[in-house]
Amino acid sequence: MPRKRIMSVVGARPNFMKVAPVLLELAKYPGEFDSILVHTGQHYDEAMSDVFFRDLGMKKPDFNLNVGSGSHAYQTGEVMKRFEEVCTAQRPDIVLVAGDVNSTVACSLTAAKLLIRVGHIESGLRSFDRTMPEEINRIVTDRISDFLFTTEASGNCNLQDEGVPEEKIHFVGNTMIDSLVRCSEVIARTGPGCRVVAAGNRVFSLATMHRPSNVDDPIQLTKVLDILKSASRYAPVLFVTHPRTRERMKTLTTELEFVEVEGNLEDLKDGVVYLLPPLSYLDFLYLMARATAVLTDSGGIQEETTFLGVPCLTLRENTERPITVEIGSNEIVGLDKKRILTALERIFHGNNWKNPKVPPLWDGKAAERIVEVLSAFRR
Ligand code: UD1
Repeated sequence: MPRKRIMSVVGARPNFMKVAPVLLELAKYPGEFDSILVHTGQHYDEAMSDVFFRDLGMKKPDFNLNVGSGSHAYQTGEVMKRFEEVCTAQRPDIVLVAGDVNSTVACSLTAAKLLIRVGHIESGLRSFDRTMPEEINRIVTDRISDFLFTTEASGNCNLQDEGVPEEKIHFVGNTMIDSLVRCSEVIARTGPGCRVVAAGNRVFSLATMHRPSNVDDPIQLTKVLDILKSASRYAPVLFVTHPRTRERMKTLTTELEFVEVEGNLEDLKDGVVYLLPPLSYLDFLYLMARATAVLTDSGGIQEETTFLGVPCLTLRENTERPITVEIGSNEIVGLDKKRILTALERIFHGNNWKNPKVPPLWDGKAAERIVEVLSAFRR
């Protein structure tokens, strides 16, 4: 029997850790699968892309579409045009996409129109907030996918409510947690990068912020930064900044008292917010596992902190990952400063934060389950 051609797509930073475990698993069965990797180039900086290939042990992309930044329509349209050429030449049996970024929707739409089957990793999540570009991407991708790989029970329920036939839904668990499990073992063996090691010995909070709703509007961004400054009274805040956030911060007229750190994280002081450039996957993981509190608007970090049992405050009005609040370590706090400081008081001095549990099937074996499904598929 000819090998099944599986074309996996990555584009932006959060895709890499979700797809890497599937690539490693597919590589175990070279007689059964021909595994092709396409990078759309949505993220292209060394720190936003290349470093993850190294940390996650990913093979080099077979094709790079070099799309880069632009408006939503530009980025989506360019990915579609360039991906269509690759699909037409390579004729994969299945295109695998992950998450909810523009590259996800662009490649699934392209494949579906070429009558190529689509598998969606991290399917079914819904914030029910269509002002988020990711929510549109999730809905459209799920609508046209053939294999819907879900991470948590809410995903199954959402898909059922939307009328997706049961046989298309595969509850496999969380491939991002597969990466976390594997790379935690790497850090335990080899140690973290030297720049972060000093921070591991002291109490600190870790922050990331990049959602358009939090950083694009100067009034909202000012509120976010003021919250981080206030949070630093409990412990120094390490604020790892996305390029988008960094650009927006430059446009603010208010004087920021934040301290830039390029090198080692030594001599951190209470009352200070330290600005860090984007970190490698392993360095970020090392810090996240040791943080006393995490403040974020990321989707993936809500899940990673739940797995690690680290208290997480999500500075958004909703989450598409409700399991992290129901049984995990996450709380949705918006930009409500009073609520955030009360939560930090509990985390730092109250000793009565939630007692998080690891969600079902977040066991490091989600990619194995995905590949079992692909293996059972008959053309
Ligand atoms: C994208 C995803 C978002 C995800 C985030 C993780 C969409 C709609 N959004 O948002 O869901 O949480 O990635 O990072 O797909 N830039 C660089 N270097 C890069 C990439 C981007 O400097 O390598 C800058 C550019 O100025 C760019 C801006 O960041 O215009 C935004 O990048 P873009 O890919 O449009 O969206 P993200 O905010 O990264």
